[in-house]
Amino acid sequence: MTSIQTLAWLNGEILPVQEVRVSALSHTLHYGTGVFEGIRCYRQNGSGRGGVFRLRAHMERLLESACVLGINVPWNIDHLCDATLEVIRANDFQECYIRPLVWLDEGEMGLAGGGNPVMTMIAVWEWGAYLGDDGLRNGIHCLMTSYERSTPNSVAIRAKVTGQYVTSFMAKRQVKALGIDEAILLDRDGFVSEASGENLFIGKDGALMTAPDEAAILHGITRDTILQLAQDYGIPVELRRFGRSSMYYCDEAFLTGTAAELTPIRRVDDRDLPTSPGPITKKLQPAYLNLVRGDHERAAEWITKL
Ligand SMILES: Cc1ncc(COP(=O)(O)O)c(C=O)c1O
Repeated sequence: MTSIQTLAWLNGEILPVQEVRVSALSHTLHYGTGVFEGIRCYRQNGSGRGGVFRLRAHMERLLESACVLGINVPWNIDHLCDATLEVIRANDFQECYIRPLVWLDEGEMGLAGGGNPVMTMIAVWEWGAYLGDDGLRNGIHCLMTSYERSTPNSVAIRAKVTGQYVTSFMAKRQVKALGIDEAILLDRDGFVSEASGENLFIGKDGALMTAPDEAAILHGITRDTILQLAQDYGIPVELRRFGRSSMYYCDEAFLTGTAAELTPIRRVDDRDLPTSPGPITKKLQPAYLNLVRGDHERAAEWITKL
């Protein structure tokens, strides 16, 4: 049994997460037809009260992911944002990870489904640095795995669909078994796309580079935040596809994601990078970590206070 024993929000009600039960005949359990999000609430500097970072953007992406699968979520964005605040308050958390999940319950067993009840849950739990405190400070080791990032036509790559995380699972499992922290996936053409659950940036000669919007990546909300912070700080960013070798001769690299925040990469495959954290990472990482805790001029725009 999971050690998470919090209260969850399920279809409009608050109940212990252990009581949220999924039918063995759930369409999503069989075919991976769920959509989900990962969001963080941070204790705000000064007030000590919680604030959810970019809540609306995450809920928008959840609804768009559902739309891609043709799932009609019976809650609108305002309901979902309110429900998130409600469940955090019910747990008396000021800082936590938030996991909304929409799935199809039992009903039609054929692949196309039809009329299966749509279940909406928001779970919360306390979760520290996803890639470890040491990783956040000093950087992690990544391996370019042979698992390939799905192509736009094989799955809905823009949508955060449960079933397509099997590739991330395989890649992450492989590198963990080798004692390596995170897996980087290349796309079908051999360009670097992203890590198993994070977007990826490299830095060279004072400028950043990351895969462009049209690449095989999830449009990360942290990636978007970092792009805007880089602009604020006058750091040039090139949105361009790049290959494995660019990672070998970059000055620095980092991953971005709600769970991983901004984690430096210290080693790629069998090579140490010249700096970790590098000079750009040293500017952007504290800016991000201060921003999510309310210490930044953009905080008012992006943080929903409890
Ligand atoms: C495959 C993948 N890429 C990138 C990200 C980063 O997205 P975000 O910054 O919105 O958390 C995630 C996390 O959701 C992910 O699963």
